[in-house]
Amino acid sequence: MTQTPPTQLIDRFGRTVDYLRISITDRCDFRCLYCMAEDMTFLPRAQVLTLEELYILAQAFAELGVKKIRITGGEPLVRKGALGLLQNIGRIESLTELVITTNGSQLETMAASLKDAGVKRINISLDTLDADKFKAITRTGDLHQVLRGIQAAKVAGFERIKINAVILKDRNHQEVNDLVQFAVDNGIDISFIEEMPLGIVSQHDRSEAYYSSALIKADLAQKFVLVATPEKTGGPSNYFNVAGTQSRVGFISPHSENFCSTCNRVRLTVEGRLLLCLGNEHSVDLKQVLRTHPGDMARLKQAIVDAMLIKPEKHEFNINEQPVILRYMSMTGG
Ligand code: GTP
Ligand code: 5AD
Ligand code: SF4
Repeated sequence: MTQTPPTQLIDRFGRTVDYLRISITDRCDFRCLYCMAEDMTFLPRAQVLTLEELYILAQAFAELGVKKIRITGGEPLVRKGALGLLQNIGRIESLTELVITTNGSQLETMAASLKDAGVKRINISLDTLDADKFKAITRTGDLHQVLRGIQAAKVAGFERIKINAVILKDRNHQEVNDLVQFAVDNGIDISFIEEMPLGIVSQHDRSEAYYSSALIKADLAQKFVLVATPEKTGGPSNYFNVAGTQSRVGFISPHSENFCSTCNRVRLTVEGRLLLCLGNEHSVDLKQVLRTHPGDMARLKQAIVDAMLIKPEKHEFNINEQPVILRYMSMTGG
């Protein structure tokens, strides 16, 4: 008797997985100090999934009930052919959301094409509005290029653009009010992220740099009225409306408010590793399945369904110790 394959991904804890984050490159034109080491070695081409393989995987997940795909990196828009891949994924009918997380460096030239490709929303990393600090945090980035990118995304007609800001004590914590003001002035949203201990970084001590969401909320209360809203975007942000404006402020608080019980997502690295949790190493090698059995969609889907059995219950981050997870954030794009 043949079994009917499931059309939904459900893990051991009863969580439905309907959100896939695909990292389409580990490369990036920036070297953010919380994300990468200064001298990174990137993956050789043979280990990287082709654009066609990435598309097949997106299709397989969509057939298994995934509704939202977020394309990440490294910096996804530095991969050659990224736009064509987005166009193809954008045509998968059962998806309700194709979204992207980017550092914004390529948006000035690409925003309009992304809109045409069917990308629904863009999240852009921006930790500071000070050009010198921006250079110091990203090591190679140009603030003004990113600001022009944000404007281009607005002009292209994207709605609910969101800024992601990782807040580090004494580096950019003094700017949280300015960042929210920037979001308000531009009619966009912003999420503040507590830094996670992924990979070994050299330029700061993560426990000393920890700045909790509670501290950020207290700082913002000096200037803004934040009104809690139950609105969710499918990600881990808890949102507040900024009273009297169109903007929302979100808090992603992996340390201070664990959100794992509602986790709905898994991640695919560009090496074809399906990571079941950002904060654990549990993974399944889907590239091996793809390359050993080309064209066998049923086998690929079964491997994905089986992977749900090893999705961990939660992450256990400890910023006071050396990171347990040696994988840099650039391998998963957050
Ligand atoms: P929306 O679709 O706008 O809700 O975006 P999102 O928050 O799902 O995606 P985004 O790329 O903006 O993610 C922001 C950050 O949240 C990521 O870069 C990670 O740092 C963090 N994050 C997302 N998912 C998880 C998760 O499952 N666990 C942990 N610890 N952090 C996560
Ligand atoms: N902790 C938290 N967020 C991080 N990001 C990169 N590295 C880290 C880290 N160690 C964020 C980026 C970007 C998103 C993809 O992940 O700032 O907004
Ligand atoms: Fe690049 Fe994003 Fe990592 Fe910064 S956080 S180095 S922009 S992948």
